[in-house]
Amino acid sequence: MIENLDVYNFKEHDQEEDSEIISDLKNSEQKKINSKHFYDEKGSKLFDMISELKEYYPTRTEIEIIESQKISFRNKLPSNASIIEFGSGSNKKIKKLLNALNNPKEYISIDISYDFLLDNAKEIAKKYPKINVKAICADLYQLGSISKIVNNNSQKIGFFPGSTIGNFSENDAKKLLLGFKKILGKGNFLIIGVDLRKDRKIMEQAYNDSKGITAKFNKNILNGINNKIGSKFDVNNFEHKAYFNEKKKRIEMHLISRENQNILLKDYDLKIQKGESIHTENSHKYTSEEFEKLAVSSGYKKVDFLTDQKKYFGVFFLKVIGN
Ligand code: AVI
Repeated sequence: MIENLDVYNFKEHDQEEDSEIISDLKNSEQKKINSKHFYDEKGSKLFDMISELKEYYPTRTEIEIIESQKISFRNKLPSNASIIEFGSGSNKKIKKLLNALNNPKEYISIDISYDFLLDNAKEIAKKYPKINVKAICADLYQLGSISKIVNNNSQKIGFFPGSTIGNFSENDAKKLLLGFKKILGKGNFLIIGVDLRKDRKIMEQAYNDSKGITAKFNKNILNGINNKIGSKFDVNNFEHKAYFNEKKKRIEMHLISRENQNILLKDYDLKIQKGESIHTENSHKYTSEEFEKLAVSSGYKKVDFLTDQKKYFGVFFLKVIGN
């Protein structure tokens, strides 16, 4: 037992999620899988490997920004605060943030992958014995349940790094920002990482790495779906495809079928044609102005904006202004 660690699990197997997976795959316009299904234990590990790749600049650049501008974090954010990380992933960034802040007193870590979350939360609880750590296994569509665990008396700093906001459509990103705002409350802060639009080649290389790790990550979503709904997708029958959609200003990831195939989804026989795609992820790329506009329209005020020399990535300090 670790004294300063509490664990909550909201991620039980749910039938509604299964139906959602099946109806997304049956979608006649475009077969799709929600990108939250990437993050089973293996997927979370593959994403960790992606974040170390030379082509995948976002993680490295965001860490550089936090590390090189830690004075801003210390001076512009409250002391003794409760830090809530939405979608924690590995511990690299949170350690930098906890080290930069003044005497943080609580760390609430939220992640979809239970084992991964627990391992990481244990590491933080041991490394920072004065910080109370709460590990919540949940996805970002469960903000209502999460809010019950958050202490309303402390000053709060929400942390949403990695440009995960880019994985949501603009509409859903707005809903998420409104959900965070409810949890954080007026006068509190949200630190959010946003991948900035840049040369198309650089963005596309980040999702088509030479070692093929992103391809493995993309295909692994099918293993996760097999485990959840008992289907028998064979990852070898699909090819990875990622490209920048200029019109929609986003990287899109797809799995392209190598042959005509039939997959049984519970009692539904899904037909997939050779060359047909399953859309697995969007990763929207914003300009700093576009993202600020979205944040302002969701009830936040920009307090600061940090970026790197090449302006590849942005870290926004936002303050909740409305209720
Ligand atoms: C987690 N998310 C911000 C990553 C991204 O860049 O959209 C996931 C990812 N997909 C492929 N590579 C990384």
